[in-house]
This record gives sequence, structure tokens and C-alpha cells, in this order.
Amino acid sequence: MNIALFGFMGVGKTVVGQALAHRLGLNFVDLDELIVERTGKPISEIFKEKGEAEFRRIEKRITEEIAAKDNQVIACGGGTVLDDENVVRLRKSSKLIFLTADVETIIDRTKDDEGVRPLINVEDRVKEIRNLLDQRYNKYLEAADLVVETSYGNPDEIAMEIEETLEKLGNNDYKSIN
Ligand code: S3P
Repeated sequence: MNIALFGFMGVGKTVVGQALAHRLGLNFVDLDELIVERTGKPISEIFKEKGEAEFRRIEKRITEEIAAKDNQVIACGGGTVLDDENVVRLRKSSKLIFLTADVETIIDRTKDDEGVRPLINVEDRVKEIRNLLDQRYNKYLEAADLVVETSYGNPDEIAMEIEETLEKLGNNDYKSIN
């Protein structure tokens, strides 16, 4: 059993994922990081050189590979669950947790990241964030087994909340690797 964290850029998928993996004694895997490792290129460069479609193909391949493994907390990229096949593959092995935050928090948390997040490296970043959130929100909700608000609280508090909620729901059948 895995726990896959997804949601928009800046909601804390990586930091909450690391904290959660630590609490539960699971491996932590960051899909974006794996993409960078495997291609030897930063995501912004993949987008620039090969375009978004090629990035999505690589993302899909790596999602399939990771979804086939067990005992992990997976931090997805912001667009991973927009692809239905990725959702089907993740769902087979993972609880899907939608991390969300209010739009002002997202705008603030991503304000220095234009260089590393190509989709919001545009003239009107704030408008683009609002547009993308509008376009994606329902898709995120559809994919979610659980929705967790991250605007308040630090990553460890949010990780603890996720752990407690999964326990309450009886969804804690993951095995510690320790
Ligand atoms: C994307 C989010 C990024 C990264 C890529 C595309 C998206 O991940 O996968 O830039 O479509 O929202 P983070 O959410 O980890 O920044």
C-alpha cells in the first residue's frame, strides 16, 4: 500500500510527503525528482527543449513504474492526476490524497519558483495560477480519496493529521519498511 499526495504546485506535496514518510516509516519518492534524475535535466529544460507533451510522456512512464511498487509515500507532480491512466495505475496501489491550499497561499508559496515551474513562468503568474486552478480543481477532487487543507500548519502537523485520518478510516494497511 502506498500513499500518493497530489494537488497544485505549492500545496506542499514534497515537504508533507517527506514528513509523512518519516512518521510512517515508508520510502519517500518524488516523481518530479525522479524525472530530473532519469533525464539528467531540470524540468524547466525538458519543457523548453522537448515541450510539455514529452514531459507528460516521461511523467507517465515513471508514474507507472512507481505505482507498481509498495510501501511508499509518493509526491506526484501537480499535473500527474490530470491523466486518467495515471490515476487508474496509482489507485491500484495507493490511497490518493489531494492536498489543497487557498489561492493566496499558493500564490505566495510559488512566488520565487518561476524558474523551476515552467507552467507559471509567464507574464501574469497570478492570473495563470487562478486559471489553472479553475481548470483543474474538479479533476483533483474526482481523483481524491481524501482532501487535506495545507494552508495552515507546518508539514509535520499536516502529516500527523493525514496519519490520524487514515487510521480513523481504517486505511492504514501500509507496512513500515523499518
Ligand atoms: C506541474 C507541476 C510541477 C511539475 C511540472 C508540471 C503541473 O510539479 O511536475 O512543472 O502541471 O502542475 P510540482 O507541483 O511539484 O511543482
